[in-house]
Amino acid sequence: SEQASNFPNEQLNLAKGWVREAGIFLRSHLDEAPQVATKSRYDDLVTNFDGQVQEELVSKILAHFPDDKILAEENGKSEPDFDLASSNFWVIDPIDGTTNFIVQKAEFAVMLAYYQAGKPQFGMILDVMADRLFWNDAEQSYCEDEALPVRWPELETSLLALNSYMFKSNANHLQELASKSLGVRNFGSAGISYVKILEGRILGYVSNLYPWDYAPGSILLSKIGFDSWTIEGDSPSLMGREKVFSGPVHLKDEVLSILSQSEL
Ligand code: IPD
Ligand code: CA
Ligand code: CA
Ligand code: CA
Repeated sequence: SEQASNFPNEQLNLAKGWVREAGIFLRSHLDEAPQVATKSRYDDLVTNFDGQVQEELVSKILAHFPDDKILAEENGKSEPDFDLASSNFWVIDPIDGTTNFIVQKAEFAVMLAYYQAGKPQFGMILDVMADRLFWNDAEQSYCEDEALPVRWPELETSLLALNSYMFKSNANHLQELASKSLGVRNFGSAGISYVKILEGRILGYVSNLYPWDYAPGSILLSKIGFDSWTIEGDSPSLMGREKVFSGPVHLKDEVLSILSQSEL
C-alpha cells in the first residue's frame, strides 16, 4: 500500500536502538542517587537523568536528520516552535513517570513519537524495568516481536486508568464513569498506562496530559482500534496540556458524553 511504502522504516529502526540504549543507560545507573529538582511545584520533579536521556536522544536524531524538528518535555516549552502541519518532527518524553523513577525505581518509560509532514507515523514506549519495547509499523502495533490484537472491550467488564489529580479535585463525572467500570487504577505514568491498554489489561485512560505524554501511546493505540480525544471529542492538538481520554473507538461517544458534562 502507499501507506506502507511511505513508512519511515529508517527512522523506526534507528529509534528502536536509541530508545533501548536509553533503557540500558537508566537501568545501569539505578544505584546512583538522582539529582532531583522541582519544576512548577513541589511534586513536579525532574532529575539529571531526564536531561541526560533527552540530550542523548536529541543529538542522535539531529545527527541523522538535521532538518527534523523536536518537541521534548525538558526543553521547557509546552508548545512547538515549528509548523505542526508540514514538519517532520519527533515528540520526546525522556522519562515518563519521573516520580516513579525516583521513588520506586520501577513503572517508568522512555517514549517518543515520529511525525512525517505533520502525519503521525510511529510511537515507541519502552517499559524500562521490564525491558519491553512497544512500537508500530504502518499496519500493526507490537510488544517486542509480538503483534497486538485489535480489541473491543466493554466498560462493565474492564478497568480504567485515571489521573489521580483529576480524581481528587473534581471527581463527579469521573466517578460516574468509574462506577460503570469494574474499577479504577492509577499507575503514575502515562506510558505505563498506555502499555496496559495495549496489552488489554486496562480499557482506557483519562488524564490531563502534554503532547509527549499522549502522542506515543495514541499512535500505538490507533493500530488496535483505539484512539485519543479531548473531552470535546476532538483529536488532541499537540499544543500544550489537554484533558484526554484514550480508549476504544466504539466507546468514544458513551465515555465522552459522561465526561463532557463535567468540569474536569
Ligand atoms: C507524568 C506522568 C503522570 C501523569 C502526568 C505526567 P512525567 O509525566 O505520566 O502519570 O499523571 O500528567 O506529566 O512528568 O513523569 O514525564
Ligand atoms: Ca515531568
Ligand atoms: Ca510524561
Ligand atoms: Ca517526563
